Amino acid sequence: MEIMRENALSLLKEHVEADSLMKHCLAVEASMRGYAKKFGEDVERWGACGLLHDVDFEKYPDTHPLPGTEILKDSGYDDEFVTAVKGHSNSTNTPRETTLAKTLYSVDELSGFVIACVLVRPNKFEGLKVKSIKKKLKDKAFAKAINRDQIKESADELGVDLTEHIQTVVDAIVLRETELNEMGMSLIG
Ligand SMILES: [Fe+2]
Ligand SMILES: [Fe+2]
Repeated sequence: MEIMRENALSLLKEHVEADSLMKHCLAVEASMRGYAKKFGEDVERWGACGLLHDVDFEKYPDTHPLPGTEILKDSGYDDEFVTAVKGHSNSTNTPRETTLAKTLYSVDELSGFVIACVLVRPNKFEGLKVKSIKKKLKDKAFAKAINRDQIKESADELGVDLTEHIQTVVDAIVLRETELNEMGMSLIG
């Protein structure tokens, strides 16, 4: 395992016990890795940013992600990285100026939504299609807590077409599940 990921994962485990939050972080990591590849960016760095974006959420849900930015600074993560984490919550009023920040914001809700779709499918990751994700996005009763407007607005902010955006995230998540399985982990169950 890459050293950067090893460090990020052990930091996350210091702060997160809940399996559901851990799995969410792994899903956002997956999407960030997918986008890093697509954009020709540093896959390990972008993955770590996804993995750690909610590092403080379990302990400090009310002030999240501010305590997280301190944890990350103390752990030696640089300003661009920390600012991206700070910017994934609109509560901090932090402009998302970098592609890293915009991408993190755009995959956070969507990754959770894709996993919610996987969980209700009999074949789970197998044959997962963008069309079915889009259909579920329109179903207001499904995964109600996930903000559809944020998914659309954040894709616009990143400058990607929504269908292509969902495809990138689906591909990243499906690939990552296989990789995680080889490491004895999973994005679900
Ligand atoms: Fe968050
Ligand atoms: Fe999140």
